[in-house]
Amino acid sequence: MVRPSAWALSAVLLPVVSALPANAPWKQGHDAQGKRQYYSPPVDRAQAVIDTFKLSWEGYYKHAFPNDELHPVTNTFGNSRNGWGASAADALSTALIMGEREIVNQIISYIPTIDWSVTSTSVSLFETTIRYLGGMLSGYDFLSGPLAHLADNPAHVDALLEQSVNLANNLSYAFQTPSGVPYNLLNLSTRDWIREPNGLATVGTLILEWTRLSDLTGNSSYASLVDKAESCLLSPSPASSEPFPGLLGTDIDPTTGAFLDARGGWIGGTDSFYEYLIKMWVYDPSRYEVLRERWEKAADSTITYLASRPLTCPDLTFVTTYNGTELQLTSEHLACFDGGNFILGGQVLGSSKYLQFGLSLVDGCHATYASTATHIGPEVFGWDPSLIPAGQEAFFAQNGFYILRPGYQLRPEVIESYYYAYRATGDTKYQDWAWDAFVAVNATTRVGSGYSTIRDVNVAGGGGFEDMMESFWFAEVLKYSYLIQVDDDAPWQVSKAGNNKWVWNTEAHPVRVYGQ
Ligand SMILES: *[C@@H]1O[C@H](CO)[C@@H](O)[C@H](O)[C@H]1NC(C)=O
Ligand SMILES: *[C@@H]1O[C@H](CO)[C@@H](O)[C@H](O)[C@H]1NC(C)=O
Ligand SMILES: *[C@@H]1O[C@H](CO)[C@@H](O)[C@H](O)[C@H]1NC(C)=O
Ligand SMILES: *[C@@H]1O[C@H](CO)[C@@H](O)[C@H](O)[C@H]1NC(C)=O
Ligand SMILES: *[C@@H]1O[C@H](CO)[C@@H](O)[C@H](O)[C@H]1NC(C)=O
Repeated sequence: MVRPSAWALSAVLLPVVSALPANAPWKQGHDAQGKRQYYSPPVDRAQAVIDTFKLSWEGYYKHAFPNDELHPVTNTFGNSRNGWGASAADALSTALIMGEREIVNQIISYIPTIDWSVTSTSVSLFETTIRYLGGMLSGYDFLSGPLAHLADNPAHVDALLEQSVNLANNLSYAFQTPSGVPYNLLNLSTRDWIREPNGLATVGTLILEWTRLSDLTGNSSYASLVDKAESCLLSPSPASSEPFPGLLGTDIDPTTGAFLDARGGWIGGTDSFYEYLIKMWVYDPSRYEVLRERWEKAADSTITYLASRPLTCPDLTFVTTYNGTELQLTSEHLACFDGGNFILGGQVLGSSKYLQFGLSLVDGCHATYASTATHIGPEVFGWDPSLIPAGQEAFFAQNGFYILRPGYQLRPEVIESYYYAYRATGDTKYQDWAWDAFVAVNATTRVGSGYSTIRDVNVAGGGGFEDMMESFWFAEVLKYSYLIQVDDDAPWQVSKAGNNKWVWNTEAHPVRVYGQ
């Protein structure tokens, strides 16, 4: 893509309000009306994100490639995703969107060499689908379409689809259960299942990638497998596993297809099932009308039953979790994608109800960032006044929530929702929030040859590094941080008018909308 000129970009930035220390832009202060003034530095924000992407890639490429992820403190590597090069697969669509030709070709010349049948650890159907399959299909859609000029060797483009087929064919036995609900954990060397319950998110977050694979290859088997699994989620049994209309339990027995509990929410373990209901309708409204209805049902129940205003900051909105109809006033960083998902639903359905609710959730998640010492939000937080952890009374009184797990694992969800909010409203406040978050993350997690998960967002400096640069840092954090600052109408950008040409999987890999 052609990035806007520095002139065009600076035109969308707020004017510089005054000089200030480069490492503390949020300390800019407030204007006479008490409104926060944002630092709009005389730098190209988009270029700063590209620089971070390149620095991260160089660290990974030098010390870890083609293993899964960089351990930046020790300049070593880990293989948490079966050793097939998860960071390479996850970096591809971001490198494409940034126009980083050399990195694109380093990745696509490597992909044909992966042997999906060889790994020493158990395989997660879900993680493999969203990172590897999603990454390759997105790369294929871009390189066989609008970004074809970035591939040095057309054979590497075809190989992205061939390797997607190979991967799906290695994994497809996961679905050969009595119910059609797959097992999530697989022993690929024995082609056996690891017989543990599956979960709502891990079952319900396959349908976009496997359907796209069918649509690209003409082999309808992949879509049939995920359609059958999805049908168990759309007709949940027992009835008690749907405590609010459209809101379901978490664990599912693949032998029966039945739910094993009635606890859930928009949190890890359940989250992207709801996300994909509306995204499938964006992908193909003619095939997925039922999924749109289910998304609206879940969204309406969320607004009616789960929306929660903390006692000490009643202008904030959070979404509770539940066990049956009993609510828990806790949420987490992972759940902060919900604002973006409601905004997307509002945009594509032309509904201001969903849009406004989504924007209120974005405000709530922004507060979790703005309140901490590092200006990064915590992994898990709560706002039940009867359960405040000792020592956090003042923090709760001031900020409306308390911290239950203080780490930050290079997660994207808050910046992801800023991106949807900016695309929908055009309000540059969201660009500023995303920049604040990016600057804070860059300042706190930068270490050694890359960026690392940190232990405590509420102590200056982040409380220590865990020596882990997650692959979704490439796929998600840096892609959203970049695209929110690039105010163009590239076809893969989420459409302001709700008329999307691409739809993003839960790992932020965009695939082409069906028929586009
Ligand atoms: C698994 O993938 C490899 C390529 O990595 C391919 O050669 C092989 O045929 C696939 N296995 C199955 C069962 O499809
Ligand atoms: C797969 O099964 C084999 C044979 O039982 C076992 O040796 C191996 O450890 C298993 N691998 C995984 C990842 O569970
Ligand atoms: C179609 O996909 C199924 C499911 O993985 C696979 O078993 C089958 O071999 C594929 N058919 C062709 C013609 O590739
Ligand atoms: C959820 O509720 C069920 C039924 O009341 C109870 O048995 C279970 O322990 C609860 N689970 C959690 C995680 O609180
Ligand atoms: C990111 O961090 C590096 C190293 O600390 C610093 O040099 C750079 O200015 C930071 N970038 C931004 C945009 O804050």
